[in-house]
Amino acid sequence: MTQQHLNNAQQQWHEVDQYVNERLHLKQGLFEQILERNRKANLPPIDVSPAQGALLQQLITMSGARRVLEIGTLGGYSTIWMAQALPQDGQVVTLELQENHAAVARINFEQAGVYERIEQRTGEALEQLQQLADEKVEPFDFIFIDADKPNNPAYLKWALHFSHPGTVIFADNVVREGEIIDQHSTDPRIHGVRQFYDLIHDEPRLRSVTTIQTVGEKGYDGFLMAIVGEPTPERS
Ligand code: SAH
Ligand code: DHB
Ligand code: MG
Repeated sequence: MTQQHLNNAQQQWHEVDQYVNERLHLKQGLFEQILERNRKANLPPIDVSPAQGALLQQLITMSGARRVLEIGTLGGYSTIWMAQALPQDGQVVTLELQENHAAVARINFEQAGVYERIEQRTGEALEQLQQLADEKVEPFDFIFIDADKPNNPAYLKWALHFSHPGTVIFADNVVREGEIIDQHSTDPRIHGVRQFYDLIHDEPRLRSVTTIQTVGEKGYDGFLMAIVGEPTPERS
């Protein structure tokens, strides 16, 4: 594809997202105010798209998830989509490295009225995950991996640690403009995602796995979704 064709395609993805978001009420009210606050606070605009936020919300509803773990809060845009679908006794534990991101997210959670259902933990996600393990927290029903991509392999290992049969593991940004097929990439993010795929390729605990490629206002990317299976009996 020439650059001109690509630009035209991107323009069209963007316009289709705008049309669909308007018709489906995906870009208004609370969620727009949250994105506006994130913009004003200079957070990078790498939240999930409205369509993907709504999908996360549907998946929480459909799976009946009560305990959600999110790795990578940013301003809490995705967190709020998920938290809205939780039952009264549900909870999202969300991990974030940057204090300033967590502070903006906290205001957003208050505005959205979901503050009681969210536990924010700030610091290196890997340290927070170890801490959660030390605390022997209950397993999670739904785990959203959306932080620094070089650590995706480690996050997958932790996700499996905190899973039970039926837990859904959902990872963002697993296509990255198609760069993931470049085995010679020197980008540590691509390397992290490729190692993540290698682990999944050899992981017997995952019952069902898919990657869906996506286009739209966030460009060309994709997400991976996996369901944890029953442990298989040891074979002699
Ligand atoms: N899930 C959010 C977007 C997350 S963006 C949404 O869709 O709204 C990725 C976030 O991961 C950023 O806020 C970044 O600060 C955070 N992050 C990056 N490295 C991290 C680390 N090592 N530990 C915890 N969080 C990290
Ligand atoms: C990046 C991270 C994300 O979570 C995302 O959705 C888009 C980009 C990044 O680190 O570049
Ligand atoms: Mg992301």
